[in-house]
Amino acid sequence: MLEAPKLLAVNDVTKVFTIGGGFHRVRLRAVEGASFTLDEGEPEIFTLAGESGCGKTTLARMILGLLEPTSGEVLYRGTPVQELTKGGRRAQFNQEVQAVFQNPFETFNPLRPVETYLLETSRNYGSKDSNGAVQDAVAEALRLVGIDYKDVERKYPHEFSGGQLQRISIARALITGPKLILADEPVSMVDASLKMSVCNLFRVLRDERRVSVIYITHDLATAYYVSDRIAVMFRGNIVEMGPVSKVLVDPKHPYTKILRDSVPEPDPAKKWTGRIRLSGFEERDFLRQGCKFSGRCPKAMPVCDEKVPPTVEVDGVLVKCHLYG
Ligand SMILES: Nc1ncnc2c1ncn2[C@@H]1O[C@H](COP(=O)(O)OP(=O)(O)O)[C@@H](O)[C@H]1O
Ligand SMILES: [Mg+2]
Repeated sequence: MLEAPKLLAVNDVTKVFTIGGGFHRVRLRAVEGASFTLDEGEPEIFTLAGESGCGKTTLARMILGLLEPTSGEVLYRGTPVQELTKGGRRAQFNQEVQAVFQNPFETFNPLRPVETYLLETSRNYGSKDSNGAVQDAVAEALRLVGIDYKDVERKYPHEFSGGQLQRISIARALITGPKLILADEPVSMVDASLKMSVCNLFRVLRDERRVSVIYITHDLATAYYVSDRIAVMFRGNIVEMGPVSKVLVDPKHPYTKILRDSVPEPDPAKKWTGRIRLSGFEERDFLRQGCKFSGRCPKAMPVCDEKVPPTVEVDGVLVKCHLYG
């Protein structure tokens, strides 16, 4: 029997940016050999985690078909996203794959009532034969994010808190009936007290709407709280990937260990900047021959400077590290 295509397949995807000019020209591998898949029938919350600059947004943009990989490919239900987002096809792709961004105040025009966006999205998608049906779809999406239609009517973006507005932008993403939502740092501008409530929404989407969520964050506390699986990135590479209950509870990669241990313990809602205090110049790590983490790794061996580590499976988790090679 033929195997059903994956909802999403990221196959050995690399993105090289050329930065600087002349003698200072540098080829930076913002994403290097990233691979993972999401199953069609089993919605899950898959987190891409890592410090700022590790390549999360670059990978997200390739998944959304906004940026072409230098090598490798991204397949959505078996078809390359580059094909699905060409010309007039983008609208249909966007119906199934929706993005939620960091700053909800940038998602909405400050001069337009928020409601108009929701109604417009509702009108453009699905077969709705009356204004009533258009409004019902909006009300239902708002209900899922815990907001009453009445509280949105005639209001402008500035009349909401960041957390409320982010919920509304998630509601808007839901109106199209997506199969996949990609949320890039959706709570990093939301009050600590509201972070968990926005994250909880992803669970509601997974369980009630059977939507898969790619949650992108530098915040391991929320990642631990909501994810089913997590991929930890360092300088363009996925260094560890597996069930969050394994990866963050018993990290295998020395980088994941340091990252996990740098999260402030008692209050998981507390702001964590995602910066670990290790000295050094970021681009230099990107350009390393062997393991990108070797210059900072407490367990580094001579081979780590010379050879790219293989990705191996250890106890149900994929680890890219010579310690397990
Ligand atoms: N368009 C671009 N041109 C050149 N370099 C880029 C571009 N976009 C991102 N980068 C670089 O790629 C690396 C990864 O960036 P990004 O994907 O934004 O990381 P993250 O989202 O994890 O913070 C960074 O070093 C960044 O400066
Ligand atoms: Mg980013």
